[in-house]
Amino acid sequence: MDIENKELISKIIPEKLPKHIAIIMDGNGRWAKKRRLPRNFGHQEGMKRVVEIVESASELGIKHLSLYAFSTENWKRPKDEIEGLMKILVLYIRNELVRLTKNNVKLKILGDISVLPDLPRKEVERAIYRTSNNTGMILNIALNYGGRDEIIRGIRLYLKDVEMGKISVEELNTNEFSKYLYTGNQPDPDLVIRPSGEFRLSNFLLYQIAYSEFWFSDILWPDFNEKYLYKAIIDYQSRNRRFGGI
Ligand code: FPP
Repeated sequence: MDIENKELISKIIPEKLPKHIAIIMDGNGRWAKKRRLPRNFGHQEGMKRVVEIVESASELGIKHLSLYAFSTENWKRPKDEIEGLMKILVLYIRNELVRLTKNNVKLKILGDISVLPDLPRKEVERAIYRTSNNTGMILNIALNYGGRDEIIRGIRLYLKDVEMGKISVEELNTNEFSKYLYTGNQPDPDLVIRPSGEFRLSNFLLYQIAYSEFWFSDILWPDFNEKYLYKAIIDYQSRNRRFGGI
């Protein structure tokens, strides 16, 4: 391991590790444009960073990692870019399933994958099934995900449970409602990372990020390496989280 990585890791306090890190992977298009390459080259390079960051986060002992891969709004992109992203997803699963299993990582999907083309949907379902008994880090990949959609879906599921008498209107509180979201019983993100110089949430985990700490950077996602992950965690550990108290 290189010296800078060692030094950074030594600054991380294991007892204060964020339980859940969420990353808005942004800047693939700009990375490709800078090199006069088609946008999908940026996504391909972005996939390599996904492989590395999943490995680094799991080695550090992060329990939940959420990656924003495809939003409900991303369907507006040109057809060839969407097809490229779906191919990259299939490639990712085919290349990484063995390593995910070896690293005891459990794959979950945030979002409605029923509308994905057949091949990526089947590969994703296969990976969810094959990793379902793993007990290490939970890797949430947000696919066809939108935070507002997720809340509306949660309300629908809740209302169905009310209809069936499983829960009463009085019983609903913020904790109970969390269970109706894609993230289910997982803890809320402690840390949200957004590279690429944008300061937006882009409809990501709207309900869950109420008290998350944010870490922004100008770095484009294809240039994001484990050093930035460590830096974000070190910065996070220096913050004073009050959750509205004093
Ligand atoms: C945003 O960058 C990125 C995406 C819409 C796709 C993210 C996908 C990956 C990193 C590829 C692989 C992912 C998995 C989980 C296998 P952008 O295209 O909006 O960049 P720009 O703002 O510079 O145009």
